[in-house]
Amino acid sequence: MKQSGNNKHADGGSIQAAAALIRAGQLVAFPTETVYGLGADARNDHAVAAIFAAKGRPQFNPLIVHVRDLAAAQVLAEFDPLSVQLAEYFWPGPLTLVLPRRAGCGLSLLVSAGLDTVALRAPAHPVAQALLSKAGCPIAAPSANLSGRISPTTAAHVRAELGGRVAIVLDGGACAVGLESTVVQVRDGKCFLLRPGSITREQIALIAGAVETGADAPGAPRSPGQLASHYAPNLPLRLNVTLARPGEAALAFARNIPSGAAKICNLSPGGDLNEAAANLFTMLRELDCSSFTGIAVASIPVHGLGEAINDRLVRAAAR
Ligand code: TXA
Ligand code: MG
Repeated sequence: MKQSGNNKHADGGSIQAAAALIRAGQLVAFPTETVYGLGADARNDHAVAAIFAAKGRPQFNPLIVHVRDLAAAQVLAEFDPLSVQLAEYFWPGPLTLVLPRRAGCGLSLLVSAGLDTVALRAPAHPVAQALLSKAGCPIAAPSANLSGRISPTTAAHVRAELGGRVAIVLDGGACAVGLESTVVQVRDGKCFLLRPGSITREQIALIAGAVETGADAPGAPRSPGQLASHYAPNLPLRLNVTLARPGEAALAFARNIPSGAAKICNLSPGGDLNEAAANLFTMLRELDCSSFTGIAVASIPVHGLGEAINDRLVRAAAR
């Protein structure tokens, strides 16, 4: 993994200090394999409320609770057989499971934003795992950005946007995946995709069989966080562009390069969707500067990780 800037990587001492801050009800930003999270003790109402306040996040949008492993998750939520299979296959890793809260689970009601479910995931990043084990509690953590803005994939991104609002930012370098976890919910034995993410629909289907799209069926589960406008840069964004307008910067993919752009960032010159996912948020931030009039995005394939990349770009383009 790359190191971001000239900052020191999180070590045992800083992780220990961060764990103590979590236990004391403070906010800690930490790396995961997907994006950086803004973490707090998921059992502590005040600490969880502070996450919403620091991000300016609407209270109706519930948070993901991070745990070490399946055993820790089963203390908090009721698992159906398919959710167990999914956790066994994909954890630790970028899959979030929405499950019924277990009575007496001790989690703050705020993490669920009034729902009777909780979103759980066991992150794979070694710093996240070490923090969870030293803190000894479940950690609620949305992405460490202001609500509606681009998710952070380096510690420097977090410091720039939320630096003054967190007790400590643990630096784990640039996030390897760079795109948020996939959120799914099993209902009546069927697996619904609530948010496309870094584990693809095709990968989930290998375990779950069919994967239903949350919004398709009436009465199907939905994710309150799937707002139309999200991941928004300051500049306007146009999609599926072949010809840039004057002053526009371009986000290209492989040989899909908008012509006439003032600056070009190519998500993956070789056409690799994994590389494109890892570069997406960093490149959006790089192009989002006042010397351009807008960001022209080339068309990106919709298969595999392309589904999640296109999902984020459509939301970033919505105003
Ligand atoms: O990769 C990730 O998932 C990152 C890292 C830090 O783990 N976290 C993240 O959290 O992206 P956040 O808060 O930005 O996105 C959580 C998503 C939102 O769309 C939210 O609505 C949904 O999960 N969610 C959380 N709890 C839910 C629930 N009980 N039911 C349905 N959707 C839920
Ligand atoms: Mg987010």
